[in-house]
Amino acid sequence: MLAKLDTIEQEALTSLGSVEDEESLERWRVKHLGRSSPLMGTFDQLGTLAKGERPTVGRRANEIKKVLETAYQENSETLRTTAIQRSLQAESLDVTLPGRTALHGRLHPTTQTMRTIYAIFADMGFQIYLSREVETDEYNFQLLNFPPHHPAREMQDTFFVESEGDRGDNPLLLRTHTSPGQIHAMREFAAANPENPPPVRIILPGMCYRYEQITARAEMQFNQVEGLAVGSDITFGDLKGTLSDFARRLFGQQVRSRFRASHFPFTEPSAEMDIECFVCGGSGCSVCKRSGWLEILGCGMVHPVVLQNGGYDPQRYTGFAFGMGPERSTMLRHRIDDIRYFFGNDLRFLEQF
Ligand code: PHE
Repeated sequence: MLAKLDTIEQEALTSLGSVEDEESLERWRVKHLGRSSPLMGTFDQLGTLAKGERPTVGRRANEIKKVLETAYQENSETLRTTAIQRSLQAESLDVTLPGRTALHGRLHPTTQTMRTIYAIFADMGFQIYLSREVETDEYNFQLLNFPPHHPAREMQDTFFVESEGDRGDNPLLLRTHTSPGQIHAMREFAAANPENPPPVRIILPGMCYRYEQITARAEMQFNQVEGLAVGSDITFGDLKGTLSDFARRLFGQQVRSRFRASHFPFTEPSAEMDIECFVCGGSGCSVCKRSGWLEILGCGMVHPVVLQNGGYDPQRYTGFAFGMGPERSTMLRHRIDDIRYFFGNDLRFLEQF
């Protein structure tokens, strides 16, 4: 019997050597220490032994049980620590490695130009006024002195938001220019003091939409920055001074500008401003199409009807307004030859700014 116990102990300890994980350790425990293990069997058989043998065999069996239990404890402990070590190893991080450089975001080239424009006009005392992108026909056209069916509407092919007829002759549309903001702003300022409306000096930036054939020179969405100054004794001289100074600040101090007569229903007189081509210095090149000049904005003295519609008495007030396309200025500043890049979301283009 004692020899059999020796074998039981030997076998158990040997097979413990091949235990590699908690699962096989548990199988080992059931096999060698469980209810139906050979060791536990010997306790059951104690009764069948000769009286004299029982204490020695019993003692030996208990001794083996302790040995195996201790071995089991130790093994289970070792398994746990190696598991922890292994996972620490796997998740280890080397804090001495150089960091990964964070990718820098950047502003869209149009946004950069617009912010430069805001800063220039802020220096001159103009504030930013934000106006809606969805407009009514009334604000986009009628109050700006475009009667229904007026041929000047041809210049601004329009996206209508609802089918014609839903709101009579005042359908909702996407604004084709930022000029309707002039009326919103004047009305808001005049409402504060209808007897004596305060002077206005604002710029109105934002997205505009036209139903255009998309080409290298025309997009169906684009930004404009509108400007409006209303007060007593504002003259065309103020307009010229303000805008020439603006052009020098945006394109360079040496830049010359000129004003050409033009037509807009909401200004009288109206003009377009050109700057001397800074690519060829005015001698004529492909950028200025051999003319030596680049058109950058439309402007004029606010039409009396528009002042009236805004709540400003045209007998007491005068003003000037202008509108420019920051995408176009950006194209000129950076010699970009296709406006479609601005909305193409191509990183190879955007990452250059
Ligand atoms: N709204 C005109 C356009 O979109 C530009 C403009 C604004 C002209 C203000 C005169 C005064 O073409």
